[in-house]
Amino acid sequence: MKKNREEAIEDLTLALMYLTRFNNREEPHFHELSWKGYDHETLKKLDEEDMIRTPKRAQYAYILPDGRRRAEEIIRELGIADYDLYERFDFRLIEEDEADEAAAVEAECFPPKEACTIEHMRDRVKAAKDIFLVAIDKETGKIAGFVNGIATNGDDFTDDYFTDASLHDKDGKNIMICGICVRPEYQKQGLARELVYNYCRREWERERRSLILTCKEQKVKMYKKFGFTDRGEANSSWGGQKWHKMDMILNR
Ligand SMILES: CC(C)(COP(=O)(O)OP(=O)(O)OC[C@H]1O[C@@H](n2cnc3c(N)ncnc32)[C@H](O)[C@@H]1OP(=O)(O)O)[C@@H](O)C(=O)NCCC(=O)NCCS
Repeated sequence: MKKNREEAIEDLTLALMYLTRFNNREEPHFHELSWKGYDHETLKKLDEEDMIRTPKRAQYAYILPDGRRRAEEIIRELGIADYDLYERFDFRLIEEDEADEAAAVEAECFPPKEACTIEHMRDRVKAAKDIFLVAIDKETGKIAGFVNGIATNGDDFTDDYFTDASLHDKDGKNIMICGICVRPEYQKQGLARELVYNYCRREWERERRSLILTCKEQKVKMYKKFGFTDRGEANSSWGGQKWHKMDMILNR
C-alpha cells in the first residue's frame, strides 16, 4: 500500500536526520544530533510526536529514543546501511549464559590483579544484566566489548562494587562503572566511545543521575573526551594501584 505524501516526508526526514546524526562535544554530548535544515512543519510534527526535540536557539535537533527506533525501522525497510559500527556490531544487553565469555574478555584486557574473576562476573551478570551493555560482532556472534556497572544511591566509588554484586539496586540513581573493555582486535576503531555514548543514552532515558568510574592517570584524557569530569584521587586501591575518580552527570 502506498504511503501518503505527508507520511513519506515525515519518515524520510527522520531517516535522513538519523543517517546524518553526529555527536557534539558540548553537553549533553552523548545525544545524537542532526542539523535542523528541513521542512519546518515536518520538524514540528516530529517534535510533537516525541521523535526529536528541536531546542529554539540551537542549530540542531536531538533524536529521541522513539525517533531512533522509528528511524532504524525505516532504513531497514528501505534497505539502507547504517554507520559502519552499527552494521558490524549489535549493541544490546548481555545474556546470562555470556558471563564466562565476558570474564574471558576482561582477562584479555586487564592484568590478573585487576580483571574481574569468573565468579564475580557470573554474580554481576545475574544481578545487574539490566545495565550490562555488550557490543556483539554480528559476523561471529562473539562479544567484542562491553560496559557494565552496579546501580546504587551511594555516590562514593569503593572497591566493594567490583566484588559484591548484591549492592546492585536496579532503581539506584547512580551507576558505578565496573568495567569498560574492548577486545584487542577491535580496539582503536571507535567502539569504546560508541559503547559509552550508547550506555549514556540508555541510562539518561531511564533517568539515572550519573555514571561514576575509577581509572588510571593515563586514561583520564580518554574519559574526558567521552564527557567525564576528573574528580581527583579515588577512594580505591584496586589491584594495589592509584586511581582517579571520574563522573558524568546524565540528569540533574
Ligand atoms: C581503553 C579501551 C576501552 C579503549 O577502547 P577503543 O575501542 O580502542 O577506544 P576508541 O577507539 O573508542 O577510542 C576513543 C578515544 O579514546 C582514545 N583512546 C583509546 N584507547 C586509549 C588508551 N589506551 N589510552 C588513552 N587514550 C585512548 C582514542 O585515541 C580515541 O580518541 P580520538 O577519537 O580522539 O582518537 C580499550 O583499549 C581497552 O579495553 N583497554 C584495556 C582495558 C582498559 O584499560 N579499560 C579501561 C579501564 S579504566
